[in-house]
Amino acid sequence: TKPLRIALAGLGTVGGGVVKLLDANAALITRRAGRPIEIVAVSARDRTRDRGVDLSRFEWVDDALTLSARDDIDVVVELIGGADGPALTLARTTLAASKAFVTANKAMIAHHGVELAGAAEASGTALKYEAAVAGGIPVIKGLREGAAANVIGHVYGILNGTCNYILTTMEKEGRDFNEVLGEAQALGYAEADPSFDIDGVDAAHKLSILATLAFGTELDFGSVAISGIRHVIAADIAEAAAMGYRVRLVGLAEESRKGLFQRVHACLVPLDHPLAHVSGSLNAVVAEGNFVGRLFFEGRGAGEGPTASAVVADLIDIARGEYGPAFAMPVASLARPGPAPAGER
Ligand code: NDP
Ligand code: HSE
Repeated sequence: TKPLRIALAGLGTVGGGVVKLLDANAALITRRAGRPIEIVAVSARDRTRDRGVDLSRFEWVDDALTLSARDDIDVVVELIGGADGPALTLARTTLAASKAFVTANKAMIAHHGVELAGAAEASGTALKYEAAVAGGIPVIKGLREGAAANVIGHVYGILNGTCNYILTTMEKEGRDFNEVLGEAQALGYAEADPSFDIDGVDAAHKLSILATLAFGTELDFGSVAISGIRHVIAADIAEAAAMGYRVRLVGLAEESRKGLFQRVHACLVPLDHPLAHVSGSLNAVVAEGNFVGRLFFEGRGAGEGPTASAVVADLIDIARGEYGPAFAMPVASLARPGPAPAGER
């Protein structure tokens, strides 16, 4: 059978993880995908860097932007990052060339997802981004497919592994914010610019994507009210604990007749709520559907293994020919979000 031929643009935490996972589980993946998934070419900035994986088997490409024009590549996997710049150019040119595009880049999807989904539809190809929200948790698939028949009233959760790791480590060990942030960076959880994590922007990117999937409204990152955890100190967490609460960075989106309401901020979560027990780099997403009831997704939200797992799941779907519109409906069917309630913008 014809292999699915892929190119990896970006070989950092996630890209390296994808190479390792495709190596480790090759036989199983081939059986599940119905054909082998083969890396043809790889690209990053520094050719000399030791990435802990054997890359000599693959063609090294200095300019990732050339990948979209290659006839010997079926799927471009973008693991570079950044809402614009090379990641966006690569997405546009790949989809325009009718090749499938897989990404873990929530910043790019939050800002340009509707345009890219439209380009994928026009070319009859796939735009897949499971890894972009909540790392290894199959929450895109869960909302896009599993809950597709439901009216969803609200969706909320813990959407940033770095912040959750920081808050829960500070809680357990009474340690300083900055010291624990360094640890989260060393573990590969944080964004290249960690202010995206700690200021709530990364969680807001993910929330706006979840809102589009849940409510069928266009992406509206600009209306998310955002605050982060930069100013939380160990004493705040200890005081919350004394009152029976835990501090978590929560993203919440609701759609009502009053409009779309999206916000990200640190919350006091009572101990009897499941989000209070989500710790370390775990993420959790709660969605309430009118027929299915409450859905609760939990799993590792950041890091090499979980994120690679989501990227390769997308590749398996593409190998099987199983994909549809990126946001569960054609972009022409997405509704314009109503204005956020006064005071929330
Ligand atoms: P890293 O910073 O570890 O890796 C980025 C990679 O992109 C590096 O290999 C870098 O090259 C390469 N790169 C940068 N510019 C270019 C370019 N112009 N052309 C080709 N390659 C380039 O990031 P992550 O792996 O952590 O993240 C990648 C993406 O995945 C981001 O969008 C991130 O938001 C997302 N993500 C990350 C998760 C995580 O837990 N880390 C989880 C979910 C999503 P070099 O190595 O030579 O510097
Ligand atoms: N920096 C992100 C986080 C990576 O900490 O959640 C996963 O999207």
